[in-house]
Order: sequence, then structure tokens, then C-alpha cells
Amino acid sequence: MSAFSPRVFSGVQPTGNLHLGNYLGAIRKFVALQESQDCIYCVVDLHAITAQLVHDDLKSQIRSITAAFLAAGIDPKRHIVFNQSRVSGHAELAWIFNCVARIGWMNRMTQFKEKAGKDRENASLGLLAYPSLMAADILLYRATHVPVGDDQKQHLELTRDIAIKFNNDFSGRIAAAGLGTEIAMGEETVNGYFPITEPLIGGEATRVMSLKDGSKKMSKSDPSDLSRINLTDDAEQIARKIKKAKTDPNALPSEPKGLEGRAEADNLVGIYAALADLSKADVLKDFGGRQFSEFKPVLAELAVEKLSPINAEMRRLIDDPAHIDAVLKDGGERAGAIAEKTMADVKEIIGFLQ
Ligand code: TYM
Repeated sequence: MSAFSPRVFSGVQPTGNLHLGNYLGAIRKFVALQESQDCIYCVVDLHAITAQLVHDDLKSQIRSITAAFLAAGIDPKRHIVFNQSRVSGHAELAWIFNCVARIGWMNRMTQFKEKAGKDRENASLGLLAYPSLMAADILLYRATHVPVGDDQKQHLELTRDIAIKFNNDFSGRIAAAGLGTEIAMGEETVNGYFPITEPLIGGEATRVMSLKDGSKKMSKSDPSDLSRINLTDDAEQIARKIKKAKTDPNALPSEPKGLEGRAEADNLVGIYAALADLSKADVLKDFGGRQFSEFKPVLAELAVEKLSPINAEMRRLIDDPAHIDAVLKDGGERAGAIAEKTMADVKEIIGFLQ
């Protein structure tokens, strides 16, 4: 048990359309957690410039992700919703973490390898340091829990490594400044400044796959729009994409074991399960033995039922940018107050004069 007060933090990049993977893997969990936790949800615009520097419509992208948060049910009054670049502590703490993290740690990140591709020398330095900024996002608020999809797991492990190294390297100073908090590390209790964050990755849709290729993650950057269901798709588009989704010729199995080696079938059953709040086993109890020609229309209907209200509310909010901007400004001010305290502590621990 850590003595840190529980706090949830997570972020979404304002790059491209939000899709069903973002919704089921992350945003839906954000909404659920706000019932029991103190939450901070961030539109990570500083991350958005790591892979591509110049964006035509960054402002509207930031507003659109914010609209999705609100439309999905996040309450920006009880919790904090803001865009990252408003709070300078993110970049400041990221710099310090660049000096804590080792180059080898960054070079091992699979997302960096994938995004940088063959021409690594030409990737931005920001893309390499991306996980350091992500650690800063989380630890600036000393967040204890981070809901994400499966693809962010490695970045969260690195966040833990950064916190552990900072706590160890500065343990004497942390104690001397009276800023330490008890952290359980296995059998021992250690005094540290940053919590060892727990990832929250669970449920049946931690990795939603492309509708066109069950071996690829559903992604904003896939050139084929048929590969994903966007949160802005209307009922007709959703139904058409599910109808065209790749499947195999066999009927659905009656148990999850029968989904092994059938990536597309597994994905569609997982999507159904997550949307209906059921386990895959429950879905297969109902649909085992049925053909995709029967399953797909029911899945489409469920997806439309769950996503249409969000879609409609997103459109309404996007038409009211002044409201969205006010939410982000207010959230930025409240986030900034927490961040300022952390940065003052960190500067004290490191030994900067302030
Ligand atoms: P991003 O913007 O790529 O994705 C936002 C969230 O959606 C999840 N996700 C998925 N979940 C299931 N199936 C998929 N196909 C799928 N695709 C995306 C992601 O796991 C993520 O939870 N680095 C992060 C943003 C970030 C962040 C943070 C997250 C920056 N700082 C601090 C948590 C804490 C990212 O690029 O997410």
C-alpha cells in the first residue's frame, strides 16, 4: 500500500480521429473511474508534435478530443480536463526526466522503433524522448493510477523506472527536505517523492484490432478508413464498416478457446463484449454456432446504440468552441496549481535555487 493519495491521470493525443480502440481501451474507462477517483484527463498536444511538427488544424483537433471526453461523460467540474501545453511543468519536468532516463531505455521502446521506422537518424529527438514527457505528465500530478490501452504498457513501465531511479538517486535529499512518502516496494517500505504508478489495463478491449487485418492495431494513422470505426462516424458508416470487416468462413465457436488463431473473429467478439459489458465467454454462449452474416448486424446495431449518443453530443460541442476553450482554460488553471507545487518540490530536491 502506498501512502500517496490515489489520483488517476491519462492522456490522448490530438492527432487524427478518435476511434473505437481509443474509446474502449481508454476513454470509457476514464468515465467509469471518475465515479470513485480524483481524475485528471489531458489532451497531450506536446506529444502531437513529436512525429509530425506542422499540423494544419491542431486547435480544432485539441477541441475535438476535448469534445469526445465531455461527450463520453467526463465531468470537467468534478475532475480536471485540460491541454498539456497550457501547463509549463510538463515540459520542465520532462527535461529533468531526460536526465534521469537512459538513452538505452528509450532505444528499447517498441513504439519508437515502429514510429521511427528504418530512418531512425531522421526521427525527431522529441520522438525518442516521448516516454520521458509521458512520465512527466503522470508524475507532475503524482498520479497513482493510469488507465490506458495495452499499447502504452511499455511506456508505463518506463514511467515506473524513472520514478524508482529519481527516488533512489535523491533519497537522502528527499528525506532531508521532509518531502518523502512511504512506498511499498516488495517486502520493503521506501521513502520516495514519486509514486510507482499502476497501469490500469483491463477488460475485453485492451487492444482493439483493425477491421481489415486482425494482426494490426486499430489506429488513427491507418490509411484505410475502413480499418476503424471513428467516434464521428454516423450509423450508416458504422454499419457499413462492420459489414465489410474481414472475417473467416467459419461459424463462431461456443467458447473463447475456439477464437485462438482467428484474430478477426476474436476482435469482433471482443468489441461486442466490451460494448455490451460482457465477457467474451458470455457473448459466445449466445452466439456460438452462428455465422458472421448473423453476428455482424447485431454487432452493428449495438455499436450504433452505444456510439450514436456520443457522436451527437460531440457534434453539438464542436459547434460551441467557446465552451470547450473555457473548459480547457479552467482545467489548465487547476492543473497548473498542482503542477507548481510539484515543480517547487522537485527543484528543492535537485538543489536549484528558486
Ligand atoms: P493515444 O493518443 O495513441 O491513444 C489514447 C488511448 O487510446 C488507447 N488506444 C487503444 N486501446 C485499445 N485498442 C486500440 N487499438 C487502441 N489505440 C489506442 C491508448 O492505449 C491510449 O490509452 N502516449 C499516449 C498518450 C499519453 C498518455 C500520457 C497516456 C501521453 N501522456 C500519460 C497516459 C498517461 C498515446 O499516444 O495515446
